[in-house]
Amino acid sequence: MSNHDGSIAAAHPQEAQAAPAAVIVLAAGAGTRMKSRTPKILHAIGGLSMVGHALHAARGVNPRELAVVVRHERDRVAEHVAVLDADAVLVDQDDVPGTGRAVQVALEALDARAQEQLTGTIVVTYGDVPLLTPETLTELVAVHQGDGNAVSVLTAVLDDPTGYGRIQRHDDGTVVAIVEHKDASPQQHAIREVNSGIYAFDAAVLRDALTHVDTANAQGEMYLTDVVAIARAGGGRVAAVVLADRWQVEGANDRVQLSALGAELNRRVVEGWMRAGVTVVDPATTWIDSTVVLEEDVTLLPNTQLHGGTRIARDAVVGPDTTLTDVAVGEAAHVVRTHGSGSRIGAGASVGPFTYLRPGTVLGEEGKIGAFYETKNVTIGRGSKLSHLGYAGDAEIGEYTNIGCGNITANYDGVNKHRTTIGSHVRTSSNTVFVAPVAVGDGAYTGAGAIVRQDVPAGSLALSVAPQRNIDGWVAEKRPDSAAAAAATRSTTPESTTTEESTHA
Ligand code: UD1
Ligand code: CA
Repeated sequence: MSNHDGSIAAAHPQEAQAAPAAVIVLAAGAGTRMKSRTPKILHAIGGLSMVGHALHAARGVNPRELAVVVRHERDRVAEHVAVLDADAVLVDQDDVPGTGRAVQVALEALDARAQEQLTGTIVVTYGDVPLLTPETLTELVAVHQGDGNAVSVLTAVLDDPTGYGRIQRHDDGTVVAIVEHKDASPQQHAIREVNSGIYAFDAAVLRDALTHVDTANAQGEMYLTDVVAIARAGGGRVAAVVLADRWQVEGANDRVQLSALGAELNRRVVEGWMRAGVTVVDPATTWIDSTVVLEEDVTLLPNTQLHGGTRIARDAVVGPDTTLTDVAVGEAAHVVRTHGSGSRIGAGASVGPFTYLRPGTVLGEEGKIGAFYETKNVTIGRGSKLSHLGYAGDAEIGEYTNIGCGNITANYDGVNKHRTTIGSHVRTSSNTVFVAPVAVGDGAYTGAGAIVRQDVPAGSLALSVAPQRNIDGWVAEKRPDSAAAAAATRSTTPESTTTEESTHA
């Protein structure tokens, strides 16, 4: 393939590609337009920070080294990058501003680490271009290496190129230079092909060209873009790779752009899952982080948000109005109007509506956590049901147990948390309170309103409420002229009731 201006839309045969020597991710800029105490590249879309997306794309080309250039909010960015990618090399930019300087310090640091000058391909990307895919970077490297280029720059043709560097081409179409918006003439402003800021370079050409880059420009910065003209003047082959998908080169400079990129990313993720066999009834109100995993024949109903490490197995139905973060949903389970995190829902189980699953909830196969239940740190065995109105925390419940309406594990004594253990095939009556620590044996029962403070042996019935006493005629004596007294009188004297009702009829 020697298409000088290869378009990524055109199929490039996957030639035996050499792994790039390095990818350098530029992330030293301030991002003031976000108006945020959080560094720009730490703002997230699709469940991952912008720099997280950039690292994912960078790793996708299997570079031997991955460097991230930092400066603004250095420590916070460095800590975040280290969590996401422990092998990334952090490089500090000095007082000299500009993308050219950022790449230069990274190259120096990488050469020093390798104790020799790197050779081969160096890829440069930004920390704030979150929709760029590993596939696009891989294609860029393939064109760069396949065509034997010194510099390959990823470009896009935009309706509104304002602010971007413009791709200046010779009459024969070859790339001559990149001119920054602030340095461009009115004629150059009319050019709609822009520099994405994403490149593949030959390491030696890049290293040499950077020694010729100065700060004599409108912004007083070392422009990486100047490498293009320098490399060409030195006889190197410079090519632009035009990307039809403009979203992939777009950066988020403010929160308006961030949300637009977030919506587009979500649209792509949701569409990807639909093509993989997931039914999404309303894509517009369904939000799926790029880290979520779904199986075939999952159904997502409107207003469902799936975050983090959430995984949903086949035939499960989730929603409507459900938000799950780090929740594993088993095959054919149903989760309706639920807010859950850090939980596991077994195959065939049912959750909701109006259920709050807090971390550590593990619901067994065919189990149920029903309406208006809150759970936390509880393991519920196969086929057990907590159907309505209650709280279960710091507890273990066996198999095929039925927890009655309004049951509560009183797990907190004001200082410490204690555990409740309930066996299998237990039947608890309404409004049972388990005052932990306490254990209920297999097959035991509790009476309505029981306050269980002591262990209940297997097969026993626990009663804790005082025997009921009815005081005969209390209403007639204490509330003589009340409606209650009149009603009581009517219900105890059948003839008068009949007369009254017939007059009303
Ligand atoms: C840059 C390009 C421009 C291109 C545009 C695409 C240059 C001179 N211009 O312009 O041609 O169209 O990107 O978005 O390269 N950064 C550093 N250190 C610095 C300066 C920037 O690491 O000293 C990082 C920033 O964090 C950011 C990236 O480099 O990730 C781009 O910086 P930015 O200031 O946004 O460049 P633009 O002026 O937009
Ligand atoms: Ca920018």
